[in-house]
Amino acid sequence: MCGIVGIISSKEVTGRILNSLKKLEYRGYDSAGIATLVEGNINEVKCEGRVEVLEKDITKFNLKGDIGIGHVRWATHGKPSKINAHPHSSEHVSVVHNGIIENSTILKKFLEKKGYEFKSQTDTEVIAHLVTEYLKKNSIKDTIIKVLKRLHGSFALGIIFKGQSNLMVGAKRGSPLAVGYGPNENYIGSDSYALKSMTNKISYLDDGEFCIIKKDQIEFFGTEGTKINKKVMNLSKDAIDYDKGDYKYFMEKEIDEQPSTITACINEYIDKHNKQINIYNFPWKISSIESVMLIGCGTAFHSCLMAKYWMEQNTNLDVSVDIASEFRYRKVKFKKNCLYIVVSQSGETADTHAALDLCKRNKMKTCAVVNVIESSIARDADLVLPIYCGQEVGVASTKAFIGQMLVLYILSTKISFDQKCISRKEYQAKVDNLLKLSNAAKKTLKLDQKIFNVGKTFADAKGSMFLGRGYSFPIALEGALKLKELAYVHAEGYPAGEMKHGPLALIEEGMPVVVLAPRDEHYKKTISNMQEVIARGAKVLLITNNNKDEVISENIWEKIEVDQLDDELIPFLMTIPLQKLAFYSALEKGYDIDKPRNLAKSVTVE
Ligand code: M6R
Repeated sequence: MCGIVGIISSKEVTGRILNSLKKLEYRGYDSAGIATLVEGNINEVKCEGRVEVLEKDITKFNLKGDIGIGHVRWATHGKPSKINAHPHSSEHVSVVHNGIIENSTILKKFLEKKGYEFKSQTDTEVIAHLVTEYLKKNSIKDTIIKVLKRLHGSFALGIIFKGQSNLMVGAKRGSPLAVGYGPNENYIGSDSYALKSMTNKISYLDDGEFCIIKKDQIEFFGTEGTKINKKVMNLSKDAIDYDKGDYKYFMEKEIDEQPSTITACINEYIDKHNKQINIYNFPWKISSIESVMLIGCGTAFHSCLMAKYWMEQNTNLDVSVDIASEFRYRKVKFKKNCLYIVVSQSGETADTHAALDLCKRNKMKTCAVVNVIESSIARDADLVLPIYCGQEVGVASTKAFIGQMLVLYILSTKISFDQKCISRKEYQAKVDNLLKLSNAAKKTLKLDQKIFNVGKTFADAKGSMFLGRGYSFPIALEGALKLKELAYVHAEGYPAGEMKHGPLALIEEGMPVVVLAPRDEHYKKTISNMQEVIARGAKVLLITNNNKDEVISENIWEKIEVDQLDDELIPFLMTIPLQKLAFYSALEKGYDIDKPRNLAKSVTVE
C-alpha cells in the first residue's frame, strides 16, 4: 500500500527521503515520487516503477531541498503511471496521500467549475486543488481544518506549501501516520520503520488530528483546530537493522527464522519452570468469557480459523470466525461476555482496524494479536498479545502466521485450563509439547530438497488444489493462498470431505493436488478422499507425519513426512512445506518473491 515520508530540516533531505521510501517498499507499490521546495518553489520528480528508478531520475535532475515529501504509490484510482504517481501538486501546494477519497468525483466537479485543471486520474489531486482554493482566503491552519472536513474516506497526508520552507503539514483519518522528532529536524512517515534510521522518538496521529511541523517544533491539533498534546514513544531498536543477511529473499529468511521466532514467542508466554502459561495483563476474569469472535484478513483470517478448531476442542467457548471486511458491514449482534479478538501482522489493516473500532464502539472486550506493537490496532485494543516474530518484510506472510497460531494456541490452552476444561496434568502436557515445537519446526525445514523438486510442477500448473480435514483445513487454505500470491497459480483450499460436492469435477489428468493427512482422527477419511482424486488423474503430494510401519499407496506422486508431535501442533509443521512450495514455485518462474504483483504488505485501504 502507499507509503508516505516527509522531512523538514536545515540539511539536504532528498537522499534521506529516498532511503525512507526504500524502507516502505515492503508495503508493495507501483510508482514513486518526491517533491521538495527549492528557494520556496515546488520541484517534483516522479516515476513509474521502483525507487531505484526514482533515485536515478533525482540524480539526473539534481533535485535538492531542505524540506520535502516522498511517496510510494499502490494504485487505487488510475493505473500505475508517472502522471498518477504522487506527489500531486498545484502551483501552490504539493500533497502525498495514503488512503482513498471517496467523494473525489464530487469534489473534482466542484473544483473544475472553479477553473482547476486535473492532470491525473487519481483521487488525491483534488486535495492539492482544494487546499489551493481554501488558501485564497484562509491561513494554512484554517485551510487544513476546512479541507479535512470536506474529505470523505480515509487518508494520511503530507503537504508542503510554495513559499513556506519553514513548515509541513501532516494529517490523518483512517490511514496511519507517525510523526518523528529529530535534532533540529522533524519527520512524518507511514510507519515508524520508515523513520527508524533517523529517530526512535515517535508520536502517532489519531483520526481527525493534524499537525504543523517545523524543524524545531511540532504542533498537534484536533479536528476543530484545538491544540493538543501527544504522547512521545521511545521505540525499541530491535527492528532497525533487519536485513536479508546471506539470503536472497526476505521470505526465504523469514521461513527459516521460524524455529527461533517460535522460541522467542514461547519464552515470552511460557514459564518453563512451573510449566504454565503467563498472560499477566488479561484484564477480565477468564471465567466470565463465554464466547469468542476471531477476526482477520488473508493469512490472519486463516490463523483465526485454526484457533476456532483448537478453542472448540479444548474449551467450552462458543467460537466464531469472520473476515474483517465482512464483519464490519454485517448487522452483528454483539454479546456482552464475548471476547473479540482481532489478528493482524501489521496492525494497520484497514478492515481489521475498522472491525476493532466497531467492537469498541459497542463497548465490547477487545484483544489484538499483532506483530507490530506500535501499530494502530495494538494501540486501540484493550489487551495486546504480541507474536514476537520481529519484522516481517516479505509480502507473503510466513513467520507471522506461525506466530499468530502460536499465540492463539497459547491463549486457547490458558482459557481451557482456567475454565477447568482440562486438568493440570493435561495442561502441563500441552505446555511440554509446545516446548518441542521449535525443534520439530527445525527438522521440517530440512525437507527442503523434496519440496524444491515438486515446485516446478506446481509452477507450471494451470490450477491446483489443497485438501485437508479438521486442523488441516485452515492450513490447506493458507497453502493455497501462498501459491496464488507468489506463483500466480490458481489454487483452491478445500475441506477434503467437500470434494465430491462439486470441486471433484475440476480434477483432470496431471493436476497437482496437495493432500494434508496427518495421522489424526481424520486420517483414514482423508486418505480415502486422496484416492478419489488420484483415481481421476491428480498428481498427489501427500504431506503427513512419519510412521515407519505403514505404506499408504503406491499411486502417490510425492510424499513428505513431518515430525511426530501432538495432533494439535501438527498444523505448525504442515505449514512449513507449503510455504516452501510456494517459494520454490515462484522462484522457478523468476517472480518477485518479496513483492508479488498487485499486492501490498500493509493493506491500509478497504
Ligand atoms: O497485516 P495483516 O496480518 O492484517 O494482513 C492481512 C493480510 O493482508 C495478509 O495476511 C495477506 O493475506 C498476506 N499477503 C498473505 O500472505
